[in-house]
Amino acid sequence: MKNIYFDNAATTPIDSRVVDAMIPILKENFGNPSSIHSNGRIARSVIEKSRKQVASFFNSNPSEFFFTSGGTEADNMILRCCVEDLGVTHIITSRLEHHAVLHTAEELRDAEGVKLSLVNVCSKGIIDLNHLEELLKLGGKTLVSLMHANNEIATKLPLKEVGEICKEYDALFHSDTVQTIGHYSFDFSDLNLHFATCAAHKFNGPKGIGFLYMRSDAQLKPMITGGAQERNMRAGTENIYGIVGLAKALELAYDGLEEHHRDIQILKSYMIKRLKEEIPGVSFNGDSESTDSLYTVLNVCFPNSDVDEMFLYHLDIEGISVSGGSACSSGSNIGSHVLRGIGTSMERPSVRFSFGRFNTIAEVDKTVEVLTKIYSK
Ligand SMILES: Cc1ncc(COP(=O)(O)O)c(C=O)c1O
Repeated sequence: MKNIYFDNAATTPIDSRVVDAMIPILKENFGNPSSIHSNGRIARSVIEKSRKQVASFFNSNPSEFFFTSGGTEADNMILRCCVEDLGVTHIITSRLEHHAVLHTAEELRDAEGVKLSLVNVCSKGIIDLNHLEELLKLGGKTLVSLMHANNEIATKLPLKEVGEICKEYDALFHSDTVQTIGHYSFDFSDLNLHFATCAAHKFNGPKGIGFLYMRSDAQLKPMITGGAQERNMRAGTENIYGIVGLAKALELAYDGLEEHHRDIQILKSYMIKRLKEEIPGVSFNGDSESTDSLYTVLNVCFPNSDVDEMFLYHLDIEGISVSGGSACSSGSNIGSHVLRGIGTSMERPSVRFSFGRFNTIAEVDKTVEVLTKIYSK
């Protein structure tokens, strides 16, 4: 049975062209980029070439990009170092953020006495910008940390508008762009955005590599200390093949962006249509039904059936990989904080389908067929 993978917001399969770009580095470029001999110098030049390539996709300067182990590390560093190095005393975020932001902000509140404000959201997960302004008026050196698109319910943030609001109140602005880099184009020079974060495994790149974008006027100090790597910003011998893989994955993502966007949106719209036709009572959580939402994510609330508790298991034995909305976010049984945060009923099973470039209409058809079987029992 061929596996149908609809969990691309969790991670994507690596593109074989990315693997091809990484293999020569793994095989031949073993030098430590900090070494002064030729092996080291070659490795260093590979990294700097990749950094330049990465920066070119965001209309930014290569010096504003720092490679990290992924999104979690970059999010952590921004929040922690904004407090430690830039004197931030007030963090404004939302209850719908990824735990990399939310748990870090809560820890900074509890351990460092930082004031933490949660901006109001509506049932679709849309941020209340008037409330954001009210919170900004409370003053103090403020960091606003709001994700560009929600990984569970697909709600998007108007980055430019929020950037303008932050500018008016002289606040620092971080957006967790982990779900949108590689899926939307960005011009960082045109946004009042101080910090952004990226994870290559969300756009068919390798796991364990990402970057932190830090605008040149917002200089943090390192969170990980030791050697002088990443221009003294992130100690530790660089993940060279990961960096090359990230740059290649970005290149492929941006080369085919319009096509990928169109094709994946077609799959998502088709799935919405088929589910509405075949399963009476189905509804969509958050903003995920809207064509303005993150086009890779569809969060579906299903009617009750006699397999409620085993819903994901049923899909799994049919070879369909998805994420649970109501069950858990990572094997824990506390339920999705995002669905709870927008007041979704936990009585009905919710499932997140997330699409990628390798999915097909036939896979949507097969999935709807399996779901229809559950309801015809
Ligand atoms: C919105 C968001 N932020 C951060 C992360 C964490 O990224 P990483 O897995 O690279 O640590 C994820 C991953 O699921 C995510 O979806």
